[in-house]
Amino acid sequence: MIRRIVVTGTDTGIGKTVFAAGLADRLGACYWKPIQSGLEGETDSQVVARLGGVSKERILPERYRLTTPVSPHQSAAIDGVSIDIASLTVPDTGGRPLVIEGAGGLMVPLDQGTLYIDVFAQWCLPVVLCARTSLGTINHSLLSIEALRRRDIEVLGVVFIGESHPESERAICEIGGARRLGRLPQLSPVSQSALRQAFAAAFEPGDFSF
Ligand SMILES: Nc1ncnc2c1ncn2[C@@H]1O[C@H](COP(=O)(O)OP(=O)(O)OP(=O)(O)O)[C@@H](O)[C@H]1O
Ligand SMILES: [Mg+2]
Repeated sequence: MIRRIVVTGTDTGIGKTVFAAGLADRLGACYWKPIQSGLEGETDSQVVARLGGVSKERILPERYRLTTPVSPHQSAAIDGVSIDIASLTVPDTGGRPLVIEGAGGLMVPLDQGTLYIDVFAQWCLPVVLCARTSLGTINHSLLSIEALRRRDIEVLGVVFIGESHPESERAICEIGGARRLGRLPQLSPVSQSALRQAFAAAFEPGDFSF
């Protein structure tokens, strides 16, 4: 069975790409960022290649590369592009596992009528929810879990990112009825070796194999 996993999060900038790099490294997976908004500096695909030590052939090309680091619907409009939702089909990886990263949180618009979460629902793939551990995470995480469930999207579990906050982590998983997959601590520096080590200590590869 080919493992194909969607990595999403409660917000933008919470560590989805860093986690996805660790996961792609651990699983020997391909990585796909369907829509990249913002091309200045490193793209998410480049970060995953560097931090996860993921070879070029395993980084699948983005379907849309948009210039401005704003919501895809707005970034597309700025570039004079319209995102063709039907074209966002999951690529064939020739049998390799695949880690797919969305953009920002779940309810990010891709055009005037479609949210990223709608595309996740169409793909029928399990989703990992990345959540920060700091204050405010219980609300954001529970809202995200509820939105996923409402659309019958399988929630593989929650990945926490940041310093340990056991009570928040417990509350989210218990009230949300979701599995705690582990917690990636704050890394300093964020390097390939530090990520690999932290990932191995925090996560059980079997939780991502099904
Ligand atoms: N575990 C961590 N330890 C230290 N820094 C981290 C960790 N995870 C993420 N960061 C840093 O936080 C910033 C945002 O992380 P990242 O790019 O992974 O977020 P994201 O959720 O993928 O954002 P986007 O919505 O833009 O795709 C980066 O500078 C990254 O290096
Ligand atoms: Mg990212």
